[in-house]
Amino acid sequence: MLNFNQADFIGAAGLSKQLFKSELPEVVFSGRSNVGKSSLINKLLNRKSLARVSATPGKTGTINFFKVGNAFNLVDLPGYGYAKVSDKEKMRWAELVEGYFAQDRKFALVVQIVDMRHKATADDMHMISFLEDSGLPYIIVLTKKDKLNKTEQTKQLEALKLQVSEISDDVEMFPFSALKGDGVEEIRQTVSDYIENFDVE
Ligand code: GTP
Ligand code: MG
Repeated sequence: MLNFNQADFIGAAGLSKQLFKSELPEVVFSGRSNVGKSSLINKLLNRKSLARVSATPGKTGTINFFKVGNAFNLVDLPGYGYAKVSDKEKMRWAELVEGYFAQDRKFALVVQIVDMRHKATADDMHMISFLEDSGLPYIIVLTKKDKLNKTEQTKQLEALKLQVSEISDDVEMFPFSALKGDGVEEIRQTVSDYIENFDVE
């Protein structure tokens, strides 16, 4: 199991031409704005505010890179789907994210994040289809588990599995709570496994 306790911010890119090359495998975090992406990253890395947690969604317009030990880069994509963002900003976001995925990089794993309380949005489904079609390895983390009771958790997990089964029926899903820490060990273990297997290839 990799050590997640040594992480440093190494840079940000707002346009694809600002992306820098890296030899390290990358674990990419993707999800709609306000889904709890920064909270998940902080929890995985045992940090209070390395990735900023915001009350106002849609603030992060850059791809942010963190180096975790000497093992991998954690890549934080800008959150999509925030209605108040201008069309110009949306275009820049698309250019940036498409440019990132078009590069020749070591994509070890994409962690696609979905709010456990709701159906996956059209944007979420679009992203999952993109991941499936690209053949990129990905898992789905379901955030804000603590906001549901036990019955609702079971129901939502089933509903989301059914919804995603339109695209693929063997995607791993991990319910997670940043508040309680549920799921954090399983997600760390899974990220570790993907990194370790990636290096072997
Ligand atoms: P942007 O970067 O602004 O798009 O948002 P984000 O996806 O990084 O979400 P962030 O981690 O900033 O969390 C958004 C809000 O949801 C904050 O108020 C968090 O405290 C809250 N939140 C995130 N994860 C959880 C969770 O697992 N449980 C609960 N109860 N609240 C959460
Ligand atoms: Mg964030």
